[in-house]
Amino acid sequence: MARIPFIAGNWKLNLSVAEGVALVQGLKDKVPAGVEVAVCPTFVALYPVAQAAKGSSVGVGAQDCYWKETGAFTGEVSPTFIADAGAQYVVLGHSERRQFFNETDQTVNQKLKAVLAKGLVPIVCIGETLTEREGGQLEAVLKRQVVGALDGIPAAQLETLVIAYEPVWAIGTGKVATTQQAQDAHAFVRAQLRAVVGELADRVRIQYGGSVKPDNAKELLGQPDVDGALVGGASLKLADFAAIVAAAKA
Ligand code: PGA
Repeated sequence: MARIPFIAGNWKLNLSVAEGVALVQGLKDKVPAGVEVAVCPTFVALYPVAQAAKGSSVGVGAQDCYWKETGAFTGEVSPTFIADAGAQYVVLGHSERRQFFNETDQTVNQKLKAVLAKGLVPIVCIGETLTEREGGQLEAVLKRQVVGALDGIPAAQLETLVIAYEPVWAIGTGKVATTQQAQDAHAFVRAQLRAVVGELADRVRIQYGGSVKPDNAKELLGQPDVDGALVGGASLKLADFAAIVAAAKA
């Protein structure tokens, strides 16, 4: 099943407006045909970065959202405003949000519904902690996160779904999963998806995330169920991110 590889840069709480715009300007002519690319700046940089990316094949995404469209929700940003700023993607359920901001499978589910209703492309992050993996909980955790995120959403609405498998112990640590660990987890996640959304599971892109760098990208992306990467640290430098994007070209 041919799935278009998708590389997304998660800038987290990094890069000013000027730095983000400059990075996108440099990235614009480095996206090969057949590879989908997006960058995810802070909310305040969303609009200028989307303006800078306009007319190119660099997409833009938010790193989170709220599920109510508008109203008295001080400090929140909804898919409506993310779309208005010119973005096409939203990252949901990143492990840092689960760890530091009380994100749960249930809130991810509510946000996912709101993102889909607005026609934005969701990147739903899942992944186990080291304690969970070492305690033999890997599969139970991934299954719970997949089932929880997709709860009550008909397969017909999930055509654009992207999953990012990010083992928490590999994020920002330099400890990348082995290609076998990544492939095994991705195959397991796809099997869980199949149980929930049927044959659409073969079209859902599953990105790997966690210390993806130019020197390990090719091998990870060469695994049959690894359809792209969600890149943190290495997405902050144009040369590194462009090298990872290039590695996605079959
Ligand atoms: P990292 O982050 O590439 O810096 O490990 C990945 C992520 O958290 O999305």
